[in-house]
Amino acid sequence: VKGFDVTLVDGLLHPRTPLIADLLRGRRSIFVTTPTVARLYGGRLLGYAKSNGLDGSLMFLECSEANKDLDHAARVCEFALEHGCDRRAVLVGMGGGVCTDIVTVAASWIRRGIGHVRIPTTLVGQIDAGIGVKGAVNFRGKKSFLGCFHPPEAVVIDPGFLHSLPESQVRCGIAEMIKIALVRDEGLFGLVEEHGPRFVSSRFGRPPAEARNALWLSVVRMLEELQPNLYEDKTYKRPVDLGHTFSPLLEAASRFELAHGEAVAIDTALSAVISQMLGLLPGVQLERILSTISSVGLPIFSADLSVALCRTALEESARHRGGAPNLVLPLAVGQATFLERVADLPGPVLEAAIHRLARDSGRA
Ligand SMILES: NC(=O)c1ccc[n+]([C@@H]2O[C@H](COP(=O)([O-])OP(=O)(O)OC[C@H]3O[C@@H](n4cnc5c(N)ncnc54)[C@H](O)[C@@H]3O)[C@@H](O)[C@H]2O)c1
Ligand SMILES: [Zn+2]
Repeated sequence: VKGFDVTLVDGLLHPRTPLIADLLRGRRSIFVTTPTVARLYGGRLLGYAKSNGLDGSLMFLECSEANKDLDHAARVCEFALEHGCDRRAVLVGMGGGVCTDIVTVAASWIRRGIGHVRIPTTLVGQIDAGIGVKGAVNFRGKKSFLGCFHPPEAVVIDPGFLHSLPESQVRCGIAEMIKIALVRDEGLFGLVEEHGPRFVSSRFGRPPAEARNALWLSVVRMLEELQPNLYEDKTYKRPVDLGHTFSPLLEAASRFELAHGEAVAIDTALSAVISQMLGLLPGVQLERILSTISSVGLPIFSADLSVALCRTALEESARHRGGAPNLVLPLAVGQATFLERVADLPGPVLEAAIHRLARDSGRA
């Protein structure tokens, strides 16, 4: 992407891997990580900094959706101030999407914007949250209400971090992988279709070539999608919004019992069924989509899915997307279109689509 490199590398924290050292040498570096990630990888990070003679300080930040807020971004700024952060200093966020989001916001504030480097350690971070130019925190109960566009200097992806992820986290990442595959890349979808369960159980370790290929294709397709509309000022029609129309309300309706990735999976399944019922997506393709989602242990239905919830979600989307719901509908695996008017989705179709998923999930 113009302005920053995204690199896939093994053994990122091996003392002789030059990538991070080359970026940080001679600059004050503030490493921000979560207690969990520090417990797993903090020792290696400190060893790396020491053996490469880096001038770094390490900060632990409790990172969860509940404390992704102004106060936590301010804490990063405070730590940076106390640790002699000058104009050339750099913040390094090593953790999941919450961590890299908070670090992005803090970097954009400090001295009106200093550099930052992202080391995403979750699957969601590596293929989705960590590779755009955005950062945000929640505010007064509104998710990602305050934020910025602040491109990183670099994003470094080491698949080795995934080994310690809980399965549930890997599944949530795969929901985003299926999303990008459905709108952009049939080959990527085929990899998940064929190897999804092994990707989950091996944390993208096996089969090695296919797992790595799926990871990298997800990153590249995502970047290609973001690139022409990096600042989201060109169009409200974003294929990467697949799975992200009904899901916010589903997450909220479940009182966040449903993970983001699970809600995305249900939304994707519903969008696919709607598309098939509107005559846009062939039935065979729909079957592939539903069975692939289910095969990795992601849900295709939740009891909170109702016509009323979907209607509200479409209205809400229209408010976000320049007046049109722009529901993303798959036309085939690898290709999508948009529902531009709520009137194009008749009530009975929506209702039948929800019923279909309720039935299928009961059978599963
Ligand atoms: N800025 C964007 O464009 C963008 C896009 C999509 C999502 N997001 C944001 O990303 C966030 C979700 O990110 P996430 O799914 O990475 O969740 P997360 O950041 O909450 O991380 C989940 C948990 O995993 C732990 N963890 C991280 N790496 C680990 C590892 N290697 N091994 C074991 N545990 C590890 C973390 O400590 C954390 O407790 C949301 O807040 C969302 O809004 C941002
Ligand atoms: Zn998402």
